[in-house]
Amino acid sequence: MLSKRIQVLSPSLTLAITALALEMKASGKDVLSFSAGEPDFDTPQIIKDAAIKAISEGFSKYTAVAGTPELLKAVQGKLKRENNLEYKTSNIVTNVGAKHSLFNVFQAVLDDGDEVIIPAPYWVTYPEIVKYSGGVPVIVETDETSQFKITPKQLKDALTPKTKMFVLNSPSNPTGFIYSKDELMALGKVLEGTSVLVVSDEMYEKIIFDGKVFTSAASVSEDMYKRTITINGLSKSVSMTGWRFGYMACPIQEIVTAVVDLQGQSTSNINSITQKAALPALNGDADSDIEAMRMQFEKRRDLALSLFCDVKGLSVLKPDGAFYLFVNIKNVSKDSVKFCKELLEQKGVATVPGIGFGSEGYMRLSFATSEKNIIEGIKRIKEFVESYKN
Ligand SMILES: Cc1ncc(COP(=O)(O)O)c(C=O)c1O
Repeated sequence: MLSKRIQVLSPSLTLAITALALEMKASGKDVLSFSAGEPDFDTPQIIKDAAIKAISEGFSKYTAVAGTPELLKAVQGKLKRENNLEYKTSNIVTNVGAKHSLFNVFQAVLDDGDEVIIPAPYWVTYPEIVKYSGGVPVIVETDETSQFKITPKQLKDALTPKTKMFVLNSPSNPTGFIYSKDELMALGKVLEGTSVLVVSDEMYEKIIFDGKVFTSAASVSEDMYKRTITINGLSKSVSMTGWRFGYMACPIQEIVTAVVDLQGQSTSNINSITQKAALPALNGDADSDIEAMRMQFEKRRDLALSLFCDVKGLSVLKPDGAFYLFVNIKNVSKDSVKFCKELLEQKGVATVPGIGFGSEGYMRLSFATSEKNIIEGIKRIKEFVESYKN
């Protein structure tokens, strides 16, 4: 009954654990969740006020598919000011979250059999949308020696005449590492002379620690600018997951037009109220709220890392950004699904198995939760690991 297209989607490995966590919570069990991919903060008041004003003023009609001129100008201004990237407003499309931006881009660009290079560990959605779009994910495994970043040699070795795209995610979900300007330039050099497009997912750009600097892939050279589709949104940095706001920008007008056409025949414009609510965030008026959340995340990262030092058998690298720890469990278990399931069942601690991100031997723990939960959760993880029997 179902289309062949839809059947290529893999059922989420993590779904069973999420369902179990919900079931346990519903039956009154004390479950601490470290699996959420979203900030636990409320959306800043200035955003809410902009939305309330838009509702009161009746800003409730269809808009242009890509977004209102005012919104596109705001995205354009943000990319110029913060990312040193100059796009025409006609190069920009706003979408129903960055996931939708990615979906539209892969749908617009990929033909059957086109290869897309995706470094692992990866955000779970990339290979699935690539497959759904007819593409072939080419997974390149990375490890701790390169902070889970693909090296220029690995990229070069993965290129074939069928390579259409290369996905970069910095800071990374699930590892939190960022590519420096030099690293991006070196990767860009490998692509020179090819027609490979780069998809640069910059969702976590504002959640960065230790004074590190974020660099947009498209900003490192003229060549990279011309081949890169920049993807971003407000879900993580401004705590607006439920509002659904993402965008893409790309100097290749053909791609942008195809995305607008696809969106015009599917979702049309994004929610009109969200378009108004996004303006203060894009214009810099929510910067102090964003910084307050970033500082909280940095404090929690340091707390979680210091507590993990006491958990013998597990190890974790210090992430540069985002709000995840990608914990190495290899000395304790070779089966991350089993490990995470038992951790949940026995200790009421919900995490995500590394295999879901393409890297067995790890678990992802989100520190987008209170310090109290972090302290209690890692205490339980320590007890669990100390008595763990494979
Ligand atoms: C790396 C990465 N990109 C994109 C997204 C999509 O975010 P949204 O669709 O909420 O904008 C997420 C969300 O988890 C993510 O982790």
